[in-house]
Amino acid sequence: MSRDPLKHAAAVAAVDAEVRPGMRLGLGTGSTADEVLIALGERLADDRLHDLVGVATSEATAARAAQLGIALASLDDVHRLDLAVDGADEIDPELRLIKGLGGAHLREKVVACAADRMVGVADACKLVGRLGERAPLPVEVIAFARGACERHLEDLGWRPAVRLRHDGRAFRTDEGNLILDCHRDEWSDPERLAADVGAVPGVVAHGFFIGIARAAFVATPSGVRVLEAPAAAPSR
Ligand code: 5RP
Repeated sequence: MSRDPLKHAAAVAAVDAEVRPGMRLGLGTGSTADEVLIALGERLADDRLHDLVGVATSEATAARAAQLGIALASLDDVHRLDLAVDGADEIDPELRLIKGLGGAHLREKVVACAADRMVGVADACKLVGRLGERAPLPVEVIAFARGACERHLEDLGWRPAVRLRHDGRAFRTDEGNLILDCHRDEWSDPERLAADVGAVPGVVAHGFFIGIARAAFVATPSGVRVLEAPAAAPSR
């Protein structure tokens, strides 16, 4: 993965502001989350941090964390996490997120919801006025239910497309499921959209993260902005 200075800046700011020795951490997935792993690894290597335990949100993150000397556990071993840090595909002004272009949003949501606090890390291009401006909604479905989920989502006004790998075969998540990348014209009321998509039989997880992120570290060319979420009831 090539290094991006803004992603690096957001990750370093989040790690230095949020991570303390001894924490149990949710480790996100993607190129910005990778910068978080690198920052953690560097601070473990020079003793600025110690006794961290991470729960990885993907097989790729688990491999990378192991490479960087970050101790790993599963959610069967560690029931609550102090903090989860993860990237995002979109962040709206209320800190509602879309996640999942990296295909890990199911485990990411499980991990984020097991954490006392979840913070996002991103560069400013992820900021949107309203969700759906630049990303589709990734919806993870079991393969058996693909056709039924597509029809059900179409009835809800979505235009689902099975995510494909570069070789043209269907992308499979770490859980062996398919992802439907879903577009639509009208994105107002994300809470209702999330509830409707989440109720479709065969849907395992959608990429709306609403009421989950408490803060976001967003890097701009002039510095890192810390955005705080309004107090709100979670809707997952
Ligand atoms: C993976 C995700 C990622 O956090 C999201 O896609 C952002 O990735 P990147 O930091 O590479 O832009 O949700 O499922």
